[in-house]
Amino acid sequence: MRAEKVFDGVYRLDGRLATVNLVRGKKVYDEDLVTIDNTEYRTWNPYRSKLAAAIVNGMERMAIKDGSKVLYLGAATGTTASHVSDIVGASGSVYAIEISERSMRDLIEVCESRENIFPMLHDARNVEGYADDVGTADVLYEDIASPDQAEILLRNADLLKDRGIAYVAIKSQSIDISKKPSEVFKEFLRKVSAKFDLVQSIEIEPFDRMHLFVVLRKREAPGKH
Ligand SMILES: C[S@@+](CC[C@H](N)C(=O)[O-])C[C@H]1O[C@@H](n2cnc3c(N)ncnc32)[C@H](O)[C@@H]1O
Repeated sequence: MRAEKVFDGVYRLDGRLATVNLVRGKKVYDEDLVTIDNTEYRTWNPYRSKLAAAIVNGMERMAIKDGSKVLYLGAATGTTASHVSDIVGASGSVYAIEISERSMRDLIEVCESRENIFPMLHDARNVEGYADDVGTADVLYEDIASPDQAEILLRNADLLKDRGIAYVAIKSQSIDISKKPSEVFKEFLRKVSAKFDLVQSIEIEPFDRMHLFVVLRKREAPGKH
């Protein structure tokens, strides 16, 4: 078997997406561990991770790379965050914000062996609670099923560097179940256009029918060159 590079730190092994395991021999969920030429990979299931689904479905730009500092909103039990942790490597960091104490318990277990993930029990609406710890992130990732998802993103935008990339999984049903998903997505993009430009939007069917995955770029603050 060969490991074919998709992006830095992201590979395809016989058609299956994978990242290089930062913690050799250790699984995070039900992924497979595959060793090729003495490198251990963890398969990355697009049915379990919207970022993997977006990559499989043609995401063009991968801003998360070796050494990146990532602010991750809605880390849950760390499925996707663990692959982000593989990609950023030992010199990178993942600030994993999660509101649920139950999910946080599992996430903390994952972080015991992954020293580049910093689990933080916070409501992502209360940015002041973690802003000093995070500082300025290179990349923002938001996967929060909440009616005020756009507002939460806008609040956290101040922690993202200028022209930094934000990846967002927008869940139409959580925002407004009475509206057509296409209208909800349009309204979300209209709101966040106050601070972000749209780079790409990616349908992630058949892996997930509820979300639209978007790549956004933070606009430079006025007056900067
Ligand atoms: C769909 S799950 C995230 C799955 C995860 N991103 C993955 O791919 O492995 C959404 C998570 O957002 C969390 N969440 C919802 N509202 C939140 C908020 N206001 N602040 C922080 N986390 C929140 C939920 O508890 C849940 O764990």
